[in-house]
Amino acid sequence: MIKLTDVVQCFGEHEVLRGVSLQIRKGEIFGLLGPSGAGKTTLIKIVTGQLKPSAGQVMVNGKNAADLNGSMYLRMGIMMDSYGLYGRLSCYDNLRLFAKIYGTAEGKIDEVLKKVGLLEAKKCPAGKLSKGMRGRLALARAVMNEPEILFLDEPTSGLDPAATKQIHELLLAEQEKNTTIFLTTHNMAEAEKLCSHVALLNEGTIVEYGEPKEICRKYNHQNQLQIRLYDGRYLELKNDCRAVGTLQTYLEQGMIETIHSTEPNLETVFMELTGKGLV
Ligand SMILES: Nc1ncnc2c1ncn2[C@@H]1O[C@H](COP(=O)(O)OP(=O)(O)OP(=O)(O)O)[C@@H](O)[C@H]1O
Ligand SMILES: [Mg+2]
Repeated sequence: MIKLTDVVQCFGEHEVLRGVSLQIRKGEIFGLLGPSGAGKTTLIKIVTGQLKPSAGQVMVNGKNAADLNGSMYLRMGIMMDSYGLYGRLSCYDNLRLFAKIYGTAEGKIDEVLKKVGLLEAKKCPAGKLSKGMRGRLALARAVMNEPEILFLDEPTSGLDPAATKQIHELLLAEQEKNTTIFLTTHNMAEAEKLCSHVALLNEGTIVEYGEPKEICRKYNHQNQLQIRLYDGRYLELKNDCRAVGTLQTYLEQGMIETIHSTEPNLETVFMELTGKGLV
């Protein structure tokens, strides 16, 4: 659905993207992860045709992103980190305006407001919404036209856990309809939960790509078994054949309360690869 080949973006002397190549399949949720300033928003702008790259090629559904036209935009949903809502218009009127542009039936507005949990706030001016509510309104706008591809720049940033869960459910429901979703996030748990593939972008270069679980397995340097016994002791055993005897003894005696492998989570992998946190 989306193919990037050697994409480079320079702002003056500053090379923000340094040869990014990626492929995103139809119907998958793809997560672009990276610390602040890594180039995530810049990449979304390029893929959505808002910015022409300094070099490289970007294809979206078989079309060059630089040549995306109106009919293609009607089949896309875009939510950027700057929300672009009309502050003095109500939630409903904001969506009504875009429904007209997209040719979406007005009846759809209440349905989509309900999906993002804003039906009760439908008459509230967008400028008076909380940050989390504004994010949800922007998301409602992005999904209202039932897009084939959805681009979401930090869709859950600033949301509380309940609102985040609601958005995750909405995105999974979109994926059920075979919508391709390209999102950026700082939230590693979100990436692990939602994304079939993630790319870790650091200083304009993709430093890792793959399925979240596979990436974590790959960086399991310790490769140990962590065991807690009922008597309160903790053990760490190298995960190889030398562990068999000890494990067998404890298992036979029914002494093992919990047992875990030591693969890291995505956040730990990211720290290792970038030397930085995610925010
Ligand atoms: N229009 C522009 N002109 C000049 N520099 C820019 C422009 N847009 C982005 N940059 C620079 O490009 C770099 C990457 O910015 P970008 O917004 O893509 O990062 P990001 O990964 O989305 O970060 P965050 O997680 O904070 O949103 C930054 O150093 C930023 O200052
Ligand atoms: Mg950004």
